[in-house]
Amino acid sequence: MLWRRNWFLPAAVLIAWGVGCANRNDAPGEGRETSATAATTAPREKSVNPGINDSYKNMKDVETWVQRFEGESREIYRERRRIVETLGLEPGDTIADIGAGTGLFEKLFSEAVGPRGRVFAVDITPKFIQHINERARKFGLANVQTVLCKEDSVELPPNSVDVAFICDVYHHFEYPKSSTSSIHRALKPGGRLVVIDFERVEGTSRDWILGHVRTGKDAVVSEIIAQGFELTDDGSKTDFLSENYIIQFRKPG
Ligand SMILES: C[S@@+](CC[C@H](N)C(=O)[O-])C[C@H]1O[C@@H](n2cnc3c(N)ncnc32)[C@H](O)[C@@H]1O
Repeated sequence: MLWRRNWFLPAAVLIAWGVGCANRNDAPGEGRETSATAATTAPREKSVNPGINDSYKNMKDVETWVQRFEGESREIYRERRRIVETLGLEPGDTIADIGAGTGLFEKLFSEAVGPRGRVFAVDITPKFIQHINERARKFGLANVQTVLCKEDSVELPPNSVDVAFICDVYHHFEYPKSSTSSIHRALKPGGRLVVIDFERVEGTSRDWILGHVRTGKDAVVSEIIAQGFELTDDGSKTDFLSENYIIQFRKPG
C-alpha cells in the first residue's frame, strides 16, 4: 500500500508537468489564445455611439442597402469615379476599403490596382461580406479579398496596406480610437488614410445628418491625428462634393 502511494505522487506530478509542456510547445495557438484573452480583459474603449450599426446587424436583405447606397440620388455613388481618381491609386497598390458595405467601390478599386495589386474589402457585417464575395466571383475580381473584422479592429496584417479608405464609415465606428489605431498598424510606413464623411455643420446641415452623424470634420481630424496620423489634405481643394468632405492623412515613416 505504502509503495503504491509513493509511486503515485511523483507519477502524477510528472504527468501534470508533461501536459503543461505539451500546451506550451506543441500548440502555438494556445499561446496566442492566452495573449488574446489578456487583450480582451483590458478595459475596452467606451462606445461613442451605441446602436449606430443596428440597422446593418438586423438587416433582412442586402438588396435594400444596395438600393440605398448605389442610387444616383446619393452623392458618393454619383461621384464614385472622381472619388477613385482622387485617390491616385497605382497598379500594384494594396487598398483596404474599410466598412465596404455593399461593395460599390470594389470593381473600380480592383481595376485601378490591377492584377498585381490587392483590394481588402473589410466590414463588421457578415451579410455584406457574403454579398461582396458573390459579386467578386460574378465579376471575376480575383484581387479582391474580404475580411470580416471586429467592431474595434480592422483585423488586417501589420504594415500591409498602401491606402486605407473609409467612406461614410467613420461616424459608424463605435470605438473610433481602437479602429483608427488598428488602421494605423495595418498601413505601411508612409501609407495613406482617406476619409470621406458628411459635412456636419450646426444650423446648415440637414436634420438627418445632424441627428445621425456624431461629429463634424474638425473633430474627426483631431481624433485621427491623436492616433498618430499627419493631415496631408484638408479637403479644401475638392470641388466636386457638396454634402461630403474628403480628407487625407499619412502614417509617418
Ligand atoms: C454607411 S455604410 C457605408 C458603406 C460603404 N463604405 C459606402 O460608402 O457605400 C457603413 C458601413 O460601415 C460598416 N461598419 C460599421 N462599423 C464598422 C467598423 N468598426 N469596422 C468596419 N466596418 C464598420 C457597416 O457594416 C457598414 O457597412
